[in-house]
Amino acid sequence: MNTQSLATRILRTRFGKRVWRKLFGAQSWAKRAGTFREKEAHGLIQRSNYAYGMLRAADTAKFFGKSAVTACEFGVATGMGLINMTQLAELIEAETGVKFRVVGFDTGAGLPAPSGYKDHPELWSSGDFSMGDPDLLRRRLAGKAELVIGDIKDTIGAFTRTLTTDCPLGFVSIDVDIYSGTVAALQGLLGQCEAYLPAISFYLDDVASYFSNEACGELCAVDEHNAAYPQRPIYSDKSLPRGRFEPFADWYRSMYVGHILDHPYRNHARERGSLSLQDHLKFMAALR
Ligand SMILES: C[S@@+](CC[C@H](N)C(=O)[O-])C[C@H]1O[C@@H](n2cnc3c(N)ncnc32)[C@H](O)[C@@H]1O
Repeated sequence: MNTQSLATRILRTRFGKRVWRKLFGAQSWAKRAGTFREKEAHGLIQRSNYAYGMLRAADTAKFFGKSAVTACEFGVATGMGLINMTQLAELIEAETGVKFRVVGFDTGAGLPAPSGYKDHPELWSSGDFSMGDPDLLRRRLAGKAELVIGDIKDTIGAFTRTLTTDCPLGFVSIDVDIYSGTVAALQGLLGQCEAYLPAISFYLDDVASYFSNEACGELCAVDEHNAAYPQRPIYSDKSLPRGRFEPFADWYRSMYVGHILDHPYRNHARERGSLSLQDHLKFMAALR
């Protein structure tokens, strides 16, 4: 046993935990001795919003008997977020046993030209956030994520048809900044109901700035989507921040849930035999 694991074991005892937390705080304790989930709840995993959403996706997938789940990033730019996603996929698979299919979407050439006030031309210009050479990013991704190059409005249909009940969509990051790209990405929610988890964690990057409003950008796209497709609405994640260490973390306001209301699991109760009551209660407790 090395010194570090002995120290960790001591910190994990009730006494060690109590003393350390009293002296240095709960986050400090979680950083040194916490489990992956404790670190996640304390905002200690890099890109907390993706860590939270992908963990939700894996837990939800497992609850519904799936061993794999799909996570998408719309708007990749140079790939920092997509690379984070592949790293998180490995960590979360180790924690839950659920595998990830990770897919990124981008023009490759940066933002398309804004087509009106809804695209926030006061903030963004055509070509912002260009990726550079997509093959360079593909090499960095080393086969751990798929990269779909092209305007999302042209690529989303074919992608949606690849979603399966064995690896349903469970987490979506919309980081395209503008209305038109968001409208296109949300078309990905309109496939066969079993291609999705009954509830999909969403991160929307541009909903909480001074210029954000329901007549423009991502918020407008979501409102229009909800009006057009009432069986597939997207609403703010009501479970945040309850019980979490950082009650005022900025990113909570950017977390949403896509509800697949026509999913069979949202319309017919499962046989209790397919899931023990204990596992059911554990999942329900985590959802709070
Ligand atoms: C802010 S950047 C993404 C940043 C990235 N997620 C990260 O974490 O590093 C926004 C990206 O959205 C992409 N984008 C916007 N609209 C798009 C569309 N209609 N089709 C494809 N990509 C789009 C742009 O090319 C740009 O690279």
